[in-house]
Amino acid sequence: MNNIISWTAEDEAIIATNTDATECKRCAVELGYWKDDYIKFFAKHTDRKAPEINRGYYARVKAMEMFIHQFLERCGTKCQIINLGCGFDTLYWRLKDTTQAVSNFIELDFPSVTAKKCHIIKRNKQLLEKICKEDGEVMIRSGDLHSDGYHLLGCDLRCLGEVRRKLAAGGATDAPALLLAECVLVYLRPDAAAALLQHLAAAFPRCVLLVYEQCNLGDKFGEVMLRNLNARGCALAGERLCRAPAAQAERMRAAGFDAARAWDMEVVWRALPEDDRARVEALEMLDERELLLQLNSHYALTVATRGDLFADLDINA
Ligand SMILES: C[S@@+](CC[C@H](N)C(=O)[O-])C[C@H]1O[C@@H](n2cnc3c(N)ncnc32)[C@H](O)[C@@H]1O
Repeated sequence: MNNIISWTAEDEAIIATNTDATECKRCAVELGYWKDDYIKFFAKHTDRKAPEINRGYYARVKAMEMFIHQFLERCGTKCQIINLGCGFDTLYWRLKDTTQAVSNFIELDFPSVTAKKCHIIKRNKQLLEKICKEDGEVMIRSGDLHSDGYHLLGCDLRCLGEVRRKLAAGGATDAPALLLAECVLVYLRPDAAAALLQHLAAAFPRCVLLVYEQCNLGDKFGEVMLRNLNARGCALAGERLCRAPAAQAERMRAAGFDAARAWDMEVVWRALPEDDRARVEALEMLDERELLLQLNSHYALTVATRGDLFADLDINA
């Protein structure tokens, strides 16, 4: 049986984190950190963010891209990507502009987020034309958007029955799957996150899960981060699991993944190609490197896998 979960003011604050993430990404894109022709449709205006924030987002986006690329290298395009708590992420469109567009792409988020994303897609030709069938049709059914190879579905990730139904409606199969959870599991209570992870590990025998979220929250800097979020009404229900990266990896293995590794973002930052780092370091002055170091050491990337195909994924690949 599913628990019926009531909608709270806290959920609204969690939903607002998507606006923040989208605006930060747009700011960094405008400053030249990376290329994204689609983010402008999802965040109309943005204030300039601090250099350490822009660099943090750059490392986050690049790290995700690095593993997305390694996944696609191993299984080609006959695979699926499932973006959990997708927010206004533009990965689907960015991949469409490459030779790496995948057979099926499923995005899940709270219905109020997917409804807004759906509205933005319908209003903007450049977004719409990338998801339309040849006849230009997309189907909206019960508030969800379905197209050939793209499904945007409203869903509460805390309700496993709903997740199952939506994945089935989006055409998920046991084909190789890339599962993305970028700043989302941390908003779920530990029991709900564990149930979701166990379901994913069982449902996808050949998969890679990329989790990006806070870590090392037990120190002073972590305390300040949590206090700031709390002041905005946004509690991290999974806060007590945001420990050292190794504990994140252990959590994934306990959920049923065959293998898992995790790195804090300072390690990831240093593993990025030197040319890339030099290029972004020249974009704007960073007065205090210490600030970036603090930020980087409070976020981690975890890569969990099932199946031999993905056993050798690495940040130094
Ligand atoms: C910080 S945003 C990140 C969005 C996107 N993954 C990115 O990195 O740009 C967190 C997202 O997770 C979604 N989310 C959090 N809890 C959720 C839940 N229980 N069910 C569905 N979505 C959820 C929020 O609505 C929000 O869009």
